[in-house]
Amino acid sequence: MADLTVQRGLEDVVALESSLTFIDGKGGRLIYRGYDIRDLAAHSTFEEVAYLLWYGRLPTRAQLDELRHRLAALRALPPGLLQILDELPPDSSPMDVLRTAVSALALLEPAESQPGASSIGGALRLTAVLPSILGYIQRRRSSKLLPSIPPELSHAAYVLAALSDRPIDPLDEGALDVALILHADHELNASTFAARVTASTLSDLYSAITSAVGTLKGPLHGGANERVMELLDEIRTPDRAEEVVKARLARHERIMGFGHRVYKVEDPRATILRDWAHRVGTAKGDLSYFERLRKVEEVVHREKGLYPNVDLYSGAVYTLLGIPKDLFTPIFAVSRVAGWTAHVLEEYQDLRLIRPMANYVGPTDLSYVPIDARA
Ligand code: SDX
Repeated sequence: MADLTVQRGLEDVVALESSLTFIDGKGGRLIYRGYDIRDLAAHSTFEEVAYLLWYGRLPTRAQLDELRHRLAALRALPPGLLQILDELPPDSSPMDVLRTAVSALALLEPAESQPGASSIGGALRLTAVLPSILGYIQRRRSSKLLPSIPPELSHAAYVLAALSDRPIDPLDEGALDVALILHADHELNASTFAARVTASTLSDLYSAITSAVGTLKGPLHGGANERVMELLDEIRTPDRAEEVVKARLARHERIMGFGHRVYKVEDPRATILRDWAHRVGTAKGDLSYFERLRKVEEVVHREKGLYPNVDLYSGAVYTLLGIPKDLFTPIFAVSRVAGWTAHVLEEYQDLRLIRPMANYVGPTDLSYVPIDARA
């Protein structure tokens, strides 16, 4: 007989074995395939990290060059997809457009999506094309067409070029590349778990990633960084942080960007993004986000003993890079698609239908009452 003890939210439940990512929640360490995120953020690129997640080892220079060429060749949006997306309401949420686009691509490109097929092809395609979908969303709003973008751009530079015609500042490219590295994977977070549940039924890769995008949209998961910026807008100046944060806590509201189901100390990604928020803010002469966030940190830690998570500083970095707030979570997806697809590949290689139980607490012996005899 199964143990019917309920672990709400599957908290502390170990659902499977994985060799992708290790989170040391007590020590505040994050490791991708054996490499500490601090080393990867300091020395590698998003493309290297995607290769590491998919293949289990860091690429040689030739392998990295080949990956970058394959990604560049897979960035184009098929005309059929543009026709579908053009039918969507212009004010559609970017995450809804992203979810729709991934789902539609499966119909336009069925081969890459099938279980067990060379899903690495599907992983490459989705990783390459998601920034193009963001570019479509951004350009449609300003009724501009996605410009032809030089194929030799790095992935981070391509994301920036897809979103804006401004010349690409190497500091911006470096900041975004680190953010993409930091968001690439995170063990069995909700959206990755959704992808693995979908894949575990032998459904296809694009369905699994559609599940993941829909899950990431939630403000308790991927949507938090957008709400952090809304908090900063309300605070306006650092000296108002105490009053605003305490008022929200008094209303038992969650302060977005704080707390984590696994980290019991500072999220190591927050540490790195805090440094980048200061570095980019200093370079651009705008430390207003950084200063407000530092005050918020001080109040939340004193009042609730909570630490920052990845979402606290990411929005400040993206804002300083000129990325619109409603594209923050889509940028999260642009990065996390590498982890999602790596987990789907891992699930296909050692498949087990994911099907937990519920402890049924309702009645079990009611007699059926014909409809006309019911009160
Ligand atoms: C991401 O899982 C991942 O790995 C996710 C992620 C990834 O890379 O994929 O790391 C990305 O989702 C980061 C988290 C982004 N979300 C937010 O910043 C939203 C705000 N954070 C909280 O909603 C919360 O901390 C969670 C959802 C992140 C974790 O919540 P838990 O583990 O379910 O903790 P809990 O709700 O049981 O809270 C425990 C206590 C409660 O206090 P009491 O009611 O017991 O008095 O801590 C409090 C909570 O009220 N608390 C907070 C809080 N987070 C927890 N109080 C105020 N503000 C917060 N942010």
